[in-house]
Amino acid sequence: MRIDIITLFPEMFDGPFNHSIIKRSIDKNLVEIHLHDLRNYSLKKHKSVDDYAFGGGAGMVMMIEPIDKCIEKLKSERDYNEIIYLSPDGELLGQPMANKLSLCENLILLCGHYKGVDERIREYLITKEISIGNYVLSGGELAAAVLTDSIIRLIPGVLGDETSALSDSFQDNLISPPVYTRPREYKGWQVPDVLLSGNEKEIQEWKLEQSFERTKQKRPEIFKAKMKMNSLNKEYLTCTRKKRNYQK
Ligand code: ADE
Repeated sequence: MRIDIITLFPEMFDGPFNHSIIKRSIDKNLVEIHLHDLRNYSLKKHKSVDDYAFGGGAGMVMMIEPIDKCIEKLKSERDYNEIIYLSPDGELLGQPMANKLSLCENLILLCGHYKGVDERIREYLITKEISIGNYVLSGGELAAAVLTDSIIRLIPGVLGDETSALSDSFQDNLISPPVYTRPREYKGWQVPDVLLSGNEKEIQEWKLEQSFERTKQKRPEIFKAKMKMNSLNKEYLTCTRKKRNYQK
């Protein structure tokens, strides 16, 4: 997969992309990330890329020309599945969207700043608008980094254990069960007995029950939606009906 990021601040990606899973996936050639400094496409003196809004109003607007030139150049070199603009009024990012985008070959991410981009960019060039949450960031860079991370970790071969992306919270609309590691006891705080029992069937049942209970407690709106799906409702009832006495 190839991701091209168009930004006024390429340095902002140094941190998130040069560590951990993203770095490893780049080193393994599973993903290519190309940063494009928008100022390099400016035709203006002093490489400016923004201007005052027609009709007045506070804040500068990112101009159409440098963005169009950059996208045009990229599109002349390869086909893109989506040209994404990161914006607080876009479609809310969730696991299903990350899953879908992880199947793409080539993506362009456009990061906005100031008052936003000239509307014609959204109308004529952008194919998808994504928000990472209902709050306003200073620019699209952090949102692009979040989106990129959520996509890359799903590409086969990126995570060491192929199943671990599938067992992420939200992958099946449930929050992941709690996890523990050594020591078994710390300051009198115990690991649940069932996890030390070696009984794989009971462990799996416990994990499912914990997932249901956590989702119900922490994200009741997701739980409700899930319970509306009949088959899952049945799964939940089966799970809770089995009266287990696991120690917490
Ligand atoms: N740009 C500014 N705020 C944003 C948000 N919440 N999501 C995506 N892009 C943004």
